Amino acid sequence: MKRMLSGIQPTGYLTIANYIGAIKQFIEIQKKYESFIFVADLHSLTVNPNPNHLRKKIRETVGLYLACGLNGKDTYIFNQSENIYHPMLSWALECNSYIGEMNRMTQFKEKSQKHITDGVTTGLFTYPVLMTADILIYDADIVPVGIDQKQHVELARNIAERFNHKYGNTFKIPVPLLPETGAKIMNLQDPTKKMSKTDENPKGNIYLLDELNIARKKIMSAITDSESIVKFDPINKPGISNLITIYSSLTNKSITIIEKEFENANYGVFKNKIADEVEILLKNIQTKYFNIIKDDTIEKVLDKGIERTTQIAKEKAYEVYHKLGVGRY
Ligand code: AMP
Ligand code: TRP
Repeated sequence: MKRMLSGIQPTGYLTIANYIGAIKQFIEIQKKYESFIFVADLHSLTVNPNPNHLRKKIRETVGLYLACGLNGKDTYIFNQSENIYHPMLSWALECNSYIGEMNRMTQFKEKSQKHITDGVTTGLFTYPVLMTADILIYDADIVPVGIDQKQHVELARNIAERFNHKYGNTFKIPVPLLPETGAKIMNLQDPTKKMSKTDENPKGNIYLLDELNIARKKIMSAITDSESIVKFDPINKPGISNLITIYSSLTNKSITIIEKEFENANYGVFKNKIADEVEILLKNIQTKYFNIIKDDTIEKVLDKGIERTTQIAKEKAYEVYHKLGVGRY
């Protein structure tokens, strides 16, 4: 069976963009592939989060994975930091990748600007190599991600190819999988920038745990243009195009059908319809979430996930260290 792997950092509150860009794909694919979905808590350390807050967020992320529809039967769900073989492989790959490659990563350029005053950690710079290790250690065939992570998956491909060439066939070459619509959901208050769970202004984001009336208000007050024509045109009408994308993803209706459906409607009518869909999604997720966190479901799912993923990851890490000639592997 082919393998799917992906992860999300437990920094900030999960948004509808994480759902549309990533989690929705995980759920659609989990029955067709052997699936590995983890909480990328080691990646969160790159920006020095508060430890107590981080601990809470890790649990919340797993709870939300399950509430969104991932299940511990079809998918191995685990915490990255509990699997020591990820950083073990990452070190080997750091010594087989180059500073020039890291310098080309657009996310590093953006994030290092953001953290310039509190200090840019070495971990933030080498973060894409740890991500490469996460992927290659399971011989993942596909990696469902939003567009911002595509460059990192391409780096993983390059590192895998180089390693295979130098040390003999070791890694599968992974393929990034982007959603057909919604690979880049934009901020509701500034549709020229992406919706991000670490954004300071909560008004531009819909969080999966937002109260329903607040989520509705955010959609209703999303920035649009003054034309009042529901037409997909990301350059000239970024706000309304973003709303069309969100609606398309939540209803699985095509953009053309949506344009037709709202041909004679004003933005208020359209926004109300989107708000209805968002409300249905959030209500469903939240009902499940508040049930899941009541008992030990999360612990059981994580225990099962870490047991199996440790076995697989250990084998690959040992194989690599053996090939590199270190230790007695
Ligand atoms: P992050 O929030 O950066 O930890 O991203 C977690 C997953 O959600 C990754 O697969 C991202 O590519 C995806 N993602 C994050 N932000 C967006 C966005 N604005 N639109 C679509 N996908 C996104
Ligand atoms: N870097 C990803 C993010 O910020 C999370 C991540 C870590 C990941 N390792 C991964 C995603 C491996 C896919 C595959 O969202």
